Parts: sequence; C-alpha cells; structure tokens
Amino acid sequence: MRIPHGSALHVQDGDLHLEQVALKTLATTHGTPLFAYSKAAMLQALAAYQRGLAGRSAQIFYAMKANSNLAVLQLFVQAGCGLDIVSGGELARALQAGCPANRIIFSGVGKSRAELRAALDVGIACFNIESLAELEALNAVAVAMGVQAPISLRVNPDVDAQTHPYISTGLKDNKFGIAHEDALQAYLHAHALPGLRVVGIDCHIGSQITQTAPYLDAMNKMLDLVQAVEAQGVPIAHIDFGGGLGIDYAGDTPPNADELWRALLALIDARGMGNKTIFIEPGRSLVGNAGVCLTEVQYLKPGAHKNFCIVDAAMNDLPRPALYQAFHEILPTQTRSATTQTWTVVGPICESGDWIGRDRELAIETGDVLAVASAGAYCMSMASNYNTRNRAKEVLIDGDQVTVIRERDTYADQWALERMLPQA
Ligand code: LLP
Repeated sequence: MRIPHGSALHVQDGDLHLEQVALKTLATTHGTPLFAYSKAAMLQALAAYQRGLAGRSAQIFYAMKANSNLAVLQLFVQAGCGLDIVSGGELARALQAGCPANRIIFSGVGKSRAELRAALDVGIACFNIESLAELEALNAVAVAMGVQAPISLRVNPDVDAQTHPYISTGLKDNKFGIAHEDALQAYLHAHALPGLRVVGIDCHIGSQITQTAPYLDAMNKMLDLVQAVEAQGVPIAHIDFGGGLGIDYAGDTPPNADELWRALLALIDARGMGNKTIFIEPGRSLVGNAGVCLTEVQYLKPGAHKNFCIVDAAMNDLPRPALYQAFHEILPTQTRSATTQTWTVVGPICESGDWIGRDRELAIETGDVLAVASAGAYCMSMASNYNTRNRAKEVLIDGDQVTVIRERDTYADQWALERMLPQA
C-alpha cells in the first residue's frame, strides 16, 4: 500500500488515520460513503504556492470547481484566497461562502448574458474572455448597465500539457481561449470597446500537469504577447497563469508549487516583467490529496478470471475512473494479517464502467472500510444521484476534531423538485 504524497494519511497502531482521526471509527460514526478532508493538508498545499509567490504582487484564486463545498471555500477565502468561478451557481456559492466580490474571477467559454450581468452587478475582479463573440456580449451587457467590465483575454498558447486528452486545454484543437495569433487584434478591439477595461491576460493549459516544461513554454508565449500588446499602447496589469498543477495519484512526481513558481518568476524577471501582478487559479493541487472517500466492502465475489470486491461507493461518488480511466490508490483502514489477493474494486451501479480500481493487491474481508485516496478534487463536485443514490456526507478533519460540512442526501431531497402528474 502506498500513501500518496501530501495526503495527511498515516498508519498508527495498524489503523489508517487522517490527521489524528482513525478512519475506520470515522466510518462507523458517520456511515459510508463518506468524504473526509484534512484541513492541514489543504493549508499546506496552499502554503507552497504562498511561499513560491512571496514578496510579489500576486493573488491566488482557488478554482472552486475542484471542490465547492461551502466550508472548503470558507477555509481558502479566510486564508486569503480569491475564487475562480465558471458559472452563476459558483458565483452564488462564492458569495455565500463569504468571498468578497473583488476577489472573484470568472472563467469559462459559455457564460450566459444573465451570468455576465450577475457578476457585473456585484463587481467581480475580472472576466476571463474566451472568444470575440463573448467580448461583444460582455460589452453590450456592460454598456446597458452603464458600467465598465474588467477583462483579460484567455489566450490559447498552443502547448501540449502532456496530460489526459479530456483535461488538456491549451492546444489549438481545444474549444478554449483565443488563438495566440489572433490575440493582439482581439486586445486592440477590446481596448476600443466602451464597456470593457483591459486589465490582464490569462491562460490555462490543462490539468494534472506533472512537468515544468509546458508551463515555461506557455509563459514564454504569454510574455511575447504582453510585450506586443503593450507596444500598441494597451497596458496589461496582471498575468493570470491558470491552474493545472498535478498531484500524486499513482506515484506521479509533479514539481512542488514553490519550485514551479521560482522557475516561472525567474523567467518573468529575466524578461523584465517582474512588476506584473500574478494571478493563479489552482484547483486540484490545493484539495486533491487532502481528501479520501471511505467506503465499506459489501460483498467479495471471487471468480475464475477476476476477483470482484463490491463496495458501497460508486461512479456517482467517484466519477474519475469511469471518465478518465483515472487511478486512485485504495487503502485498507485496518491492517489484516491474511495474505493479499488481487481484487477489482467496483461499485453497485448497473454499468461495467462503474469501477474504482482494477487489480489491486488487498487483504480484505466483508465489512472492512477502504479509503479511496486523492479524492478531495473533482469527486464530490462531480458527484451525481445516478441510480437514485444519495450523494455522500462530507466531514472536515482538523487534528482530532471532526466537523460535518455536508449531510448525506435523503431520498426525499432527491425528488423534492419533481412533480407527479395530476390524477385523472
Ligand atoms: N482554471 C480554469 C480555467 C480551468 O478550466 C481549470 C480546470 C482550473 C483553473 C483548475 O485546474 P486544476 O488546478 O484543478 O488542474 N474533472 C477533471 C479536471 C477538469 C479540470 C477543468 N478545468 C479531473 O477530474 O481530472
């Protein structure tokens, strides 16, 4: 068994703990499936970015799509972060969690007019614009409201982030951003529009990036553009470099956030742009390894070709294996003396895609609690009620303290918004 880096998981007296809480006991108290997040792990992940950007004019905007629980947002906002949002729903959540509007930036290719209006109304810090059509739409909305919208253009630098195709976003073929070669013209156009105020430049090249080279490449291309745009008399106050830094799922070795930023800042300084404000939008790397999903073994089903371990969490709770063939480490919460066997861990959902881990060496018995690691990012925020399964409960761990930050759904919650047909 391998504990991923940065997870605050450790074995003590044979039992797996998150900070000072034994996970088997936690599962008994709160039931399964249960998501548990370590506060210390989140703050440590944040501290690496803060160290990397220390002494600079910089703002970290947590990309809340990774995990948008109100308590998680509150924690990051209280630690000084702003929030990167991608929908009107995330705007409402951000405000609900106490994030000041001027610490919110708005990303995404398809912001609706109503969402643009709502964000202008509260006065967010910046709109990251992804197309000429969106530029026109925001200008029209802002003019109608008699305000000016602060904008940056999301530029597609055409670099290969060398990650899964579904989460790579900085290539020419992706739907994201304005092509690098069109960006200068777009800036000049934006500068001339009365409802817009150019404040920055933005990019985001993908997610679960484990190499430094694509970042350096992208930064170089961004700085070329900043120079070209400023040479035309349009000042760029901030460089938003997106998110994307990977975490250790399966022995991955991404650069540490502070080392990555030392390298990027050296590049910015070398090109004489050290005075620019830096914005970043990390998501996964702040929360991914802070979380686990606890699940109970329901049935063991050994077979001639495969041994299946059927647990009570499923693809509705942990969608990443089904969507991206993602690997999550699966750890027993108690040590068993029996020898290990090879198990494929699956959920109860009626689809073959409902698997959590394939061919894992585990010593387990029915009723055991397993911890699916690296489950703090893009699990609960992508969870669904498929098969009319209640979405899980969530707790935050701080030392030996456990705080419930989301109750489990009830069945009645699930159909509360549905209406039966009138009876004839
Ligand atoms: N900024 C923008 C504009 C983004 O689109 C994203 C993520 C982020 C920041 C944060 O990226 P991060 O630091 O978390 O890599 N569901 C997928 C990941 C999708 C990422 C989408 N965009 C997964 O589970 O791997």
